[in-house]
Amino acid sequence: MIGRIGVSSQLLLGFSLGILFSASYGKIWSILSRWRGVQDRDGGRTIRMASEDARTVKKDIRVGVEGLIGSTPLMKIKSLSEATGCEILAKVEMMNPGGSAKDRIALALVERAEAEGLLRPNSGDVVYEGTSGSTGISLAMICRAKGYRAHICLPDDTSTEKVDLLEKLGAEVEKVPPASIVDSRQYVNQARARANERNSDDSIEGRGLFADQFENEANWKAHYDHTGPEIYQQTGGEVDIIVMGAGTGGTISGVSRYLKQLLPNLKVVLADPPGSGLYNKVKYGVMFDIKEREGTRRRHQVDTLVEGIGINRVTRNFDVGRRLVDDAIRVTDEEALAMAKFLVEHDGLFVGSSTAVNCVAAAKYALNTAGPGHTIVTVICDSGARHLSKFWKAVGPIGGELGTSSLEDILDLSSTANTSRASTPVNR
Ligand SMILES: Cc1ncc(COP(=O)(O)O)c(C=O)c1O
Repeated sequence: MIGRIGVSSQLLLGFSLGILFSASYGKIWSILSRWRGVQDRDGGRTIRMASEDARTVKKDIRVGVEGLIGSTPLMKIKSLSEATGCEILAKVEMMNPGGSAKDRIALALVERAEAEGLLRPNSGDVVYEGTSGSTGISLAMICRAKGYRAHICLPDDTSTEKVDLLEKLGAEVEKVPPASIVDSRQYVNQARARANERNSDDSIEGRGLFADQFENEANWKAHYDHTGPEIYQQTGGEVDIIVMGAGTGGTISGVSRYLKQLLPNLKVVLADPPGSGLYNKVKYGVMFDIKEREGTRRRHQVDTLVEGIGINRVTRNFDVGRRLVDDAIRVTDEEALAMAKFLVEHDGLFVGSSTAVNCVAAAKYALNTAGPGHTIVTVICDSGARHLSKFWKAVGPIGGELGTSSLEDILDLSSTANTSRASTPVNR
């Protein structure tokens, strides 16, 4: 009897334990899974387990706005890549905190001046610059972050968004009438004169620094030290062609000087807007066009809606990389406007005018010269938001229908059709 009771109580105990165990199995397994960092499923989606993050955690904190500059993403522009058969990649410089690649050089210019003892934080020092906008915005941002004031001289027809931004960043904005570089009141000359005025008056507190983005070699070096290496790393060194415009020339020179050491067969192509003399300088060695004679224009953007690129003199920053530029492509305003619209309609990409020029030139080079199968890197310089009142106003309404325009429509390839798709292999 006792034996029978013993056996049945053991059976009962085993049975209860079995039920208990199966009821808790799910819970225990889920706890174990979490503990082991196994991934779980929730409605078909894979969920990362917090414990996995806890094991691999690494601090990632950027210090100040300076810490946000650079390391920008490289994106594949899907529409252009599909249409050309080339991989068209763009360095997304508009993702810098000040909205353009100019953040890189603003930081470099200020840090170089600090290292040389020309600027001391919170001592009333003022940075002066002549700029058509982007560099001014980046300098105004860096100056605020580092304890300086910024005084920006710009042409009085600069788009209102840029002027508003400068004022909201607390920069002193001085608008001057558009003038040739040989005119003492041209915006770059005016900025230099303002810095000199400050430095020659001992009664004024704080020194003046003329940042001089066109001639200061800290500009191209910033791109040599950072933008070039980033492109090399992000492409794994697999880049055949780079295409970009030049304003000061710092980006094209710095990137080309860095990349061509590692990739001697890399082709460097300049994208040039109307009114700029650089196309002729690259193609024929001189700015020969009577309309483009050095210094004769009122300002370099006078014949185009495009801001930031195109110039009629050889700056030091362009000159240091000039011999590395293999080819040049002219881009009309009409092509740039159509490309800006195309990128929104096909890719949801809202870019500024110089980016539109870069993308037209990249697509033209892919179709007319390189042929399919090449990797082309260009630059998304800034957002269309900086160009709403001028460039984007001229773009007109964006169609409700998705992606109706074709690349051929934009580039008007009928006029260059004979050269299209001729494949000139570009070796890595
Ligand atoms: C919007 C924009 N894109 C491109 C450039 C060209 O860059 P870089 O001056 O390095 O030639 C500039 C220069 O001012 C710019 O403002």
